[in-house]
Amino acid sequence: MTIKEEIDRRRTFGIIAHPDAGKTTLTEKLLLFGGAIQTAGAVKSNKIKKHTTSDFMEIERQRGISVATSVMGFEYKGIKINLLDTPGHEDFAEDTYRTLTAVDSVVMLIDCAKGVEPQTRKLLEVCRMRSTPVIVFINKMDREGKDPFDLLEEIEKELRIDLRPLSWPISIGKTFKGVYNLYEKSLTLFNSGEKQTEENSIEIKDLKDGTLDKLIGEDYANTLRSDVELLEAGYPKFDVEEYSEAMVSPVFFGSAVNNFGVRELLDSFIEIAPRPKGRTTDTREVLPEDKNFTGFVFKIHANLDPKHRDRIAFLRIVSGKFERNKNYNHVRDGRNMKFSNPTAFMAQEKNIVDEAFPGDIIGLYDSSNFKIGDTLTEGEKMNFKGIPQFSPELFKYVVNADPLRTKQLNKGLEQLTDEGVAQLFTKKTDNRKVLGTVGALQFEVIQHRLKSEYSASCNFEHISLYKACWMSCKDQRKLEAFIFEKAHHMATDKEGRPVFLAESAWALQMAQEKNPDIKFHFISEFKDE
Ligand code: G4P
Repeated sequence: MTIKEEIDRRRTFGIIAHPDAGKTTLTEKLLLFGGAIQTAGAVKSNKIKKHTTSDFMEIERQRGISVATSVMGFEYKGIKINLLDTPGHEDFAEDTYRTLTAVDSVVMLIDCAKGVEPQTRKLLEVCRMRSTPVIVFINKMDREGKDPFDLLEEIEKELRIDLRPLSWPISIGKTFKGVYNLYEKSLTLFNSGEKQTEENSIEIKDLKDGTLDKLIGEDYANTLRSDVELLEAGYPKFDVEEYSEAMVSPVFFGSAVNNFGVRELLDSFIEIAPRPKGRTTDTREVLPEDKNFTGFVFKIHANLDPKHRDRIAFLRIVSGKFERNKNYNHVRDGRNMKFSNPTAFMAQEKNIVDEAFPGDIIGLYDSSNFKIGDTLTEGEKMNFKGIPQFSPELFKYVVNADPLRTKQLNKGLEQLTDEGVAQLFTKKTDNRKVLGTVGALQFEVIQHRLKSEYSASCNFEHISLYKACWMSCKDQRKLEAFIFEKAHHMATDKEGRPVFLAESAWALQMAQEKNPDIKFHFISEFKDE
């Protein structure tokens, strides 16, 4: 197969959903269709529920699961699908954001009874920032839910997206009869519990056809006819181009647990979902078909065995062909590296691979050489953009609880923050270390992992902060004067950049008003002025 054919047959995506909408269930059904797993129940949920936050065994167990489910590769009808897992717990929102930098499209699940939920909203914002194409799957149609027209309106209004229904439910809950595929003009009837097969689909070219009445009864047939008329009048025709440019989102209805509507989703997905896309760097656009290999690290996972401090760096291949044992350039370090056992993920199996192509995710064993966002190339000096850190919102001072193990504590903090568990700032005036996170759970994770992996202990002390933000200014002297004036509220991040630690929204606003030439940034990636 040529590289172009390899690129064309790849689809890399993630499923986003508010917890409990059915992400684990849908993932499992997709893997069953792909033949990647044989039995239901094989994919464990990686949900970390609120009540388990202080249960460290639970955190470790979840970490184990999340290695296994980070990337689930499978083949379906000749297409190589890479499904990337995103953590459902909102404390891991930043992980999810980073994972979404490595996908080319997403499937967004909505519970038909609950509609748009808080996490759905946040995750959709991330997709919007990156113009990621979204397919909507409205799940749990076997349960009593909202009226489908109301649901579409709610989704369009709340998420500010344009929908294009491609399938339409016939009733809902106890009387749910099935879905009509508006795209293929076929009807699929629902038998609760039974596996959906291709034979269940009945082609109905003309909705006026009397067979429809025989199949679902006259009342439901008439409702479907008038619904379809309304849909055709109310929604423009679906256009694949518009979807690939993230301007419209196709919608499907189904029930993941009953395996209903899943095959239909998958068949449409492989047809319309975008093939691997290029990515932007600080010097140029990289396209998948570019000859030379390039890729970036979007996730780092520590080994679960505390005796081995190696980690797995997850690399998304952007262009060219990755080959085992070939020398590649680690741009940030300026070093050449080769990888003797790069790993590909096929469902729950890990295999060493000799080569991988754009769209693929490979795991590289790493002994602390990588940071999130690092770029590998064949020598070209460039860095992929778009994996910024966000201004954290929760802060704590780190206090060394075992002075004899200071070195271990520093190393642990350095490495755990490289992994992206939290951000580390050093205060300017007294050199105290401050950890910043987006979720409360991260502090516990850090404390626990410092102990188990680095034999170091730390306590946290309260620090009252509202936000940490980066700054830039055309006039360097003005910036320096501000940093001097606010020395007590200044820190440096791990890259040595100055960070303003605002105590309150008011303090931030005052700083902004008094210093109109200084720009305050809430993500770490910004153009220097
Ligand atoms: P998540 O990963 O998005 O958090 O959701 P998950 O798949 O774990 O599903 C959450 C619950 O919703 C599960 O029930 C699951 O069985 C159920 N579910 C998923 N799809 C459907 C569907 O199409 N219809 C109905 N009626 N239920 C669905 P649970 O009771 O929390 O767990 P379990 O004991 O069934 O695993």
